[in-house]
Amino acid sequence: MTTAIVANDLHKSYDGVEALRGVSFEVQAGEVFGLLGPNGAGKTTTVEILEGYRTRDSGEVTVLGHDPAAAPRALRERIGVVLQQSEFTPHLTVREVHRLFAGYYEHPRDVDEVVQLVGLEEKRDARVKTLSGGQKRRLDLGVALVGDPDLVFLDEPTTGFDPAARRTAWDLIRTLRSLGKTILLTTHYLDEAQQLADRVAVIQAGRIVSLGTPAELIGTAHKAEIRFEMNGEPVVVQTEDPTLTLHELTSEALANGRRLEHLEVRRPSLEDVYLDLVGGEENAE
Ligand SMILES: Nc1ncnc2c1ncn2[C@@H]1O[C@H](COP(=O)(O)OP(=O)(O)OP(=O)(O)O)[C@@H](O)[C@H]1O
Ligand SMILES: [Mg+2]
Repeated sequence: MTTAIVANDLHKSYDGVEALRGVSFEVQAGEVFGLLGPNGAGKTTTVEILEGYRTRDSGEVTVLGHDPAAAPRALRERIGVVLQQSEFTPHLTVREVHRLFAGYYEHPRDVDEVVQLVGLEEKRDARVKTLSGGQKRRLDLGVALVGDPDLVFLDEPTTGFDPAARRTAWDLIRTLRSLGKTILLTTHYLDEAQQLADRVAVIQAGRIVSLGTPAELIGTAHKAEIRFEMNGEPVVVQTEDPTLTLHELTSEALANGRRLEHLEVRRPSLEDVYLDLVGGEENAE
């Protein structure tokens, strides 16, 4: 397996604010890698350094064999980017913006195909300024894909999407993965990371505090939970072996002619682990 991204001991300060305090990780080619963390943790700073949009104070970075700080054309040709904030010329149409960006690449995809892929075919000739928030975000995604890049950076790509559009975007990301593309994704939707990412890193206050597959992160931290009500009172049982525990609980109840009311088995989610890690605290200060 080849390595698509190496970040080693990245540091970055803005006017005395230490945004990155030694961030290191690697992303393998063909992998979907998720970067999670609270507001201000340093996700966008990290991603934009990798994209070559921001400078680093120190540390080493290799993206597809290049240092992005030098912004070589050979690298630009092979990456696609959805920025957290982007502004396209408001007077251009959806199709025109796609065509403009396709022009920067040597082997772009068919513009109409991409417009359709991101679900904007009905807005093909609409001007950017008339798009809704979610439609603008779809435009961002289309622009990132139009160059047929090997590596795609997606900084909160589905923020503002309605639930159906989010599922469509997930399918799109899965399709990209099946084509062998590498994807670095930041998101605040833990279900999105759990669904899509092969591995995730949790970043907090400029440091990576956890890294692994979603299953590894969940497995190390949490047990399954069985909930039911007895005499109107809620009961919660935590267990490492839900099959066995459930068998014991239901056998006993049935033997006594009872039912376990509102019975529910809940497997821990990445969100549970994440909230434990970052302390449910929204500020990284
Ligand atoms: N251009 C900038 N000038 C000054 N400080 C900045 C700048 N960009 C980011 N910061 C600071 O660096 C820290 C990390 O910001 P960053 O945008 O990387 O966080 P993030 O993890 O992407 O957060 P969010 O989830 O809100 O997008 C924050 O404290 C932020 O205030
Ligand atoms: Mg950000």
